[in-house]
Amino acid sequence: MIDSISKVLNELQAQSTLEKSRKINVPPEDRMLAITKETGELLNMILRLKNAKNMLEVGMSTGYSTIWCAEAISEQSGKIITIEQNPSKIKRAKENFQKAGIKDTITIKKGLAIQILTELNLQERYKNFFDFVLIDADKENVIEYFDLIFPMVSVGGVIVTDNMLYPKKFREDMKKFSDYLKENPKLRTITSPIGNGEEITIKLR
Ligand SMILES: C[S@@+](CC[C@H](N)C(=O)[O-])C[C@H]1O[C@@H](n2cnc3c(N)ncnc32)[C@H](O)[C@@H]1O
Repeated sequence: MIDSISKVLNELQAQSTLEKSRKINVPPEDRMLAITKETGELLNMILRLKNAKNMLEVGMSTGYSTIWCAEAISEQSGKIITIEQNPSKIKRAKENFQKAGIKDTITIKKGLAIQILTELNLQERYKNFFDFVLIDADKENVIEYFDLIFPMVSVGGVIVTDNMLYPKKFREDMKKFSDYLKENPKLRTITSPIGNGEEITIKLR
């Protein structure tokens, strides 16, 4: 991994650890709420195994997960579209992408996920387009997000959803989501205990 990327990932990971342990006091709206390092490694590994070129992320925050993914996808000259509603997090993410040297790989869509996903879903060019998707925004709407995303995923494409097991307050919503996925014959899905619990879903047809 090139130095500029590992340096930014290490800084963000340290910040995330401090925030999670409440060793520093950050207002709730500014918290990173980042994936774990192990989840970052998992996403990076899947992207590499797939030689993925087109990724969609829902819930960028300050860009920790995006950078883990950009590190892999940039080697394929791939691109990431990522969605975030919080302007101050977008500002911090842009600074992080600049420092990491991966800003040209990433397009940020600012706004509400439901609105942006609906707009993307209506465009013919995004039909069967993304070979990798990370869903990591608000958990209440995860089924709606998935339904908008699924037609935009290529056959063989992978969708990872964070927070399947932790924090516990999301368990009920995430269990409903997992049960919903298991009814769909067009996909196969498993819940992995890595990080905060990652649902790994592959589109079969
Ligand atoms: C769990 S954090 C994402 C963490 C990020 N994936 C990472 O690992 O660094 C969720 C993010 O989604 C954003 N978000 C929540 N609800 C959203 C919505 N309805 N539309 C757009 N962004 C949303 C929040 O502002 C927050 O930054």
